[in-house]
Amino acid sequence: MISHQTIATIQEVVRIEDVVQDFVTLKKKGNNLWACCPFHHEKTPSFTISPTKGFYKCFGCGAAGNVITFLKSIEGFSFVEAIQYLGKKYGIAIEEVHDSQSITTQNTQESLYILLNRAQQYFEKNLHSHTFGSVARSYCIERKIPTILLEKFGIGYSFSTGNHFLTYAQEASFDQEILLMSGLVIAQEKKVYDRFRGRLIFPIHNLSGKVIGFGGRLLANNTQQPKYINSPETLLYQKRKALYGLFQAKKAIIQHDFCYVVEGYTDVLALHQAGMENVVAPLGTALTADHLQLISRFTQQIVLLFDQDKAGVQAVLKSIDLIVAQDMHVYIVALPPEEDPDSFVQKNTAAEVQSYCKIHKQNFVSFKAQILLQTKINDPLAKTQVIKNILQTIVSIQDEVTRMLYIKMCSEYFQMDEATLLAECHRMVLHKQDSTKKNISSHVEITWKKKEKQDDLLQKSIHIQERESIRMLLFYGDQMINGDVPLHQYFSDALQEVTYTLPLHQKILQCYKKNIANNLPFDLKSWVHHTDEDIQKFTINFMVSHYTISDVWEKKYQIYVIKEEDELSKNVFKNILRLKLRLIQKFINDNLTLLKEPTPTTDIMHLVSIHQTLKKTETEIAHHLGIILTH
Ligand code: UTP
Ligand code: MN
Repeated sequence: MISHQTIATIQEVVRIEDVVQDFVTLKKKGNNLWACCPFHHEKTPSFTISPTKGFYKCFGCGAAGNVITFLKSIEGFSFVEAIQYLGKKYGIAIEEVHDSQSITTQNTQESLYILLNRAQQYFEKNLHSHTFGSVARSYCIERKIPTILLEKFGIGYSFSTGNHFLTYAQEASFDQEILLMSGLVIAQEKKVYDRFRGRLIFPIHNLSGKVIGFGGRLLANNTQQPKYINSPETLLYQKRKALYGLFQAKKAIIQHDFCYVVEGYTDVLALHQAGMENVVAPLGTALTADHLQLISRFTQQIVLLFDQDKAGVQAVLKSIDLIVAQDMHVYIVALPPEEDPDSFVQKNTAAEVQSYCKIHKQNFVSFKAQILLQTKINDPLAKTQVIKNILQTIVSIQDEVTRMLYIKMCSEYFQMDEATLLAECHRMVLHKQDSTKKNISSHVEITWKKKEKQDDLLQKSIHIQERESIRMLLFYGDQMINGDVPLHQYFSDALQEVTYTLPLHQKILQCYKKNIANNLPFDLKSWVHHTDEDIQKFTINFMVSHYTISDVWEKKYQIYVIKEEDELSKNVFKNILRLKLRLIQKFINDNLTLLKEPTPTTDIMHLVSIHQTLKKTETEIAHHLGIILTH
């Protein structure tokens, strides 16, 4: 673990503009620095840095955060890796604190990294400059893998006989225990052997470019052995979490904002050869939720690029459902029959491959329809089955807007009424609930649009009001109002019985209360460096809007904006009342719903009396705020 002291020192010394400068070119405009956003494609800069407040924010894609968040997003670092990176950049020694358990794990891990790194260099040297390597060099030429790609991926070769690697590692004084843990050697009947023999070696990297394992492809196709073998699961390598090529792809993925997923090692190389560097492959396993989580650090869009054989199609169908269930977007490119990415690239120019992928990119609705329907396009029964299958996938999408989008697509593709499809989705959700007997309040519930709209509007205004009240707290919490009460005190008294409806708001409020209890200073800037990234982003967003608005008004129109600080007592009072008004209106709505859909046990008179009380309160609050209610 890195010591708190080190983290604090680094956060003090680091200047966000120094760090970001290494990735994009910054231009000064006003108090801020601007650049083209590295997180999405754009031609005019909408990415800004505030050096004084220590944050970045893109007005184009909404990316925002502090220097740590920046490094996490652009380099895929973990928190610790970001701190280490900054330590190196600024020449600050990283002080670590350990309990004995973590020292052992850390040491083992370190030794494994060192061993794998040495092994990679060893294999690579074999391929390029050892006499025994000539057979592998010919193989690469035959498969048309350019040297530049071999180097980019650090590809190597393991000799076909003897235990050359074992000998090499022993001479370099690596422990037998570490050698076994690395999976590079195998123990059998008390003897130890090289795992990889006579294979082209593909190093597998983690996000920061360290080698965590290897894949090996036999040079000869005609033996009894498996064509590919991978490192076994180790402390560093777990196949369900590792993606081949991600390290080499991450910049291109961010740039293009999508990621190709292919089947294997050679497909990844092939796409690079065709100038498409945003590509990864799972390793001897189907795509997992962990893989998707990794990719989603860089993009939400995946393009599956597979051959049309049976296994390929089955894998695609499974992956589609998995991707959609993570609320990521999926597209499919089916290659011409009999081709895999590798063979396709060898037969066509880079431009041809790129344009093929662009033209043949399908969404999952049309892909599924095509595959599942095949020749039965006029068979109504088959068609119903396929539609149901597709709707089943759509139902698992959590985001409402995306879900509606796909229903629309489906309705266009099958020439069917949207409402019918919606009703079918609804039925599926209910059915799912029946069979699982839980998840009753599932997010997938589809209700009538009109009521939804009203409730939505109200919910939105509650959120806005909540945000406003948090803004006041964070901006002015330590100021005195009504003479001698700290604003935060007044707030918590007045909102004692209120729980924010948005979990993020509630989380911020709780952090705020904890800070007060711990006597921490009211420093707005400290919220920008909050460890919770949602909180960071939230704070930055309203700091940005608050300052830009008042700056623009004052400078451009020379209007003196009446500052809310000037009438803080009055403003806080109104702020709280507005939130309460919205909440009361929500109670009224909820109560009315109960009244409209009574069950045999509903006490209608009781609900009516609640309604009257709520209405009375609503009118009173509205009167205080000078609002005239229209209903
Ligand atoms: P393929 O059999 O399609 O191989 O397996 P490929 O990528 O086209 O390789 P070449 O062109 O024959 O060299 C796809 C992926 O499945 C895994 C590997 O990750 C491979 O890249 N695989 C395949 C294994 O793990 N073991 C095997 O025996 C075969
Ligand atoms: Mn192949």
